[in-house]
Formats: sequence, C-alpha cells, structure tokens
Amino acid sequence: MSLATQSYNPPQQVVLLPQTQQLKALMTIIRDQNTKRADFVFYADRIIRILVEEGEDYHGVEFQGHICGVSIMRAGESMEQALREVCRSVRIGKILIQRDEETALPKLYYLKFPPDIASRYCLLLDPALATGGSAIKAIETLIEHGVLEEKILFLNLLSCPQGIAAVVAKYPAIKIITAVVDHGLNGKKYIVPGLGDFGCRYFGTD
Ligand code: URA
Repeated sequence: MSLATQSYNPPQQVVLLPQTQQLKALMTIIRDQNTKRADFVFYADRIIRILVEEGEDYHGVEFQGHICGVSIMRAGESMEQALREVCRSVRIGKILIQRDEETALPKLYYLKFPPDIASRYCLLLDPALATGGSAIKAIETLIEHGVLEEKILFLNLLSCPQGIAAVVAKYPAIKIITAVVDHGLNGKKYIVPGLGDFGCRYFGTD
C-alpha cells in the first residue's frame, strides 16, 4: 500500500501485492514524472510481471489451462506481453470502452473475446482503477458473455479506495489484484498521488 493509505483497510475482494522494498522502488521510479519513457516502460513491465504472476498463482495449477486475458484498450494492452510470457499460448481478448460524450457514461465500442470465454477464468487487464466506471462496464460485458463473476480477476498497478468500493459494491464476487492503493482521485478523476496517464506515458502519446 502506498504511504498515502497506510490506514486504509481494503475489502476482502482485494489482493494487495506484498509491499516489498523492490516493489516500492519500482513504484517510486514510475511515479516520477521525470522518468524517461524507456525507463517507465521497463519498470512498469517489471511490476506488471509481478502482478500477472500473483494473478496466475492465485488459483493454483488447475487454473492455468483455463484462463484467458481481456485487456481494456488502450492502456490494458501494456499488460498483454507479461501474460503471454507467464501463460503459454494464452488467449487474449480486447474490449474498448470510452466515455459517451452525450451521456458522460462509459460506453462499449468494441470487443473481441475467445469463443469459449464463458468456461474460463478471466484476467481483466487495466493498469489503473480510478473511478471504476470502465472496469464496471467491462465486467458487466464479460458477465453478459457468460463469464462467472467469481471467475474474474481484475489486475491493476494502481488503484484507489473509491474505485475499489464502486467495483466491489456492484460485483462482490470478483477479485481485484493490485500493486498499490493510492489516496484518492483529483478533480479530473486522476489517481493521486498516482503516476499521471499510464497509457500516454507507456505508449509515448499525448
Ligand atoms: N488512468 C490513468 O492512467 N491514470 C489515472 O490516474 C487514472 C486513470
């Protein structure tokens, strides 16, 4: 847990990575806005690898042949490579959710899932759990495609109490595997202290 949230007691659905010296050092590097992009990618990838291994360990050996990944585009795509490295020939679906300009609600624009997704555990990939709006829409879509709520593991590097509360209030049977829980959200719905826009920093865009 980050320094900002030492007193926060996450709900039982949250699996927080062990707060090792290594993880703290990696997080410090990627939080730093002066970190160059190459370093940001390298150190973020190391944290993602730890997260994916934790996610895979979570249900043990039997789990391994029966999983798939689903990345929430675009930032979640940064987590696909680590999943491929850890789970041989894993199937990976994608989902694109964006804010509807008219309603201001998260709207589903695109999805592509493995055909047998309903029989699999699903590792849902998105580096940041901020308000929870996209995550809730993604989970709703997975459930509509037959995935059992208790077979969804949501993996993120950075989360906050508001996002966690929103997701578990709607879907109490899922698990959230997160590297750190930060203090909260600012007026622009960015996580604070956070690390800025993960997707832009990782992919080098504005
Ligand atoms: N997405 C990000 O990349 N960062 C945040 O702080 C919130 C959402």
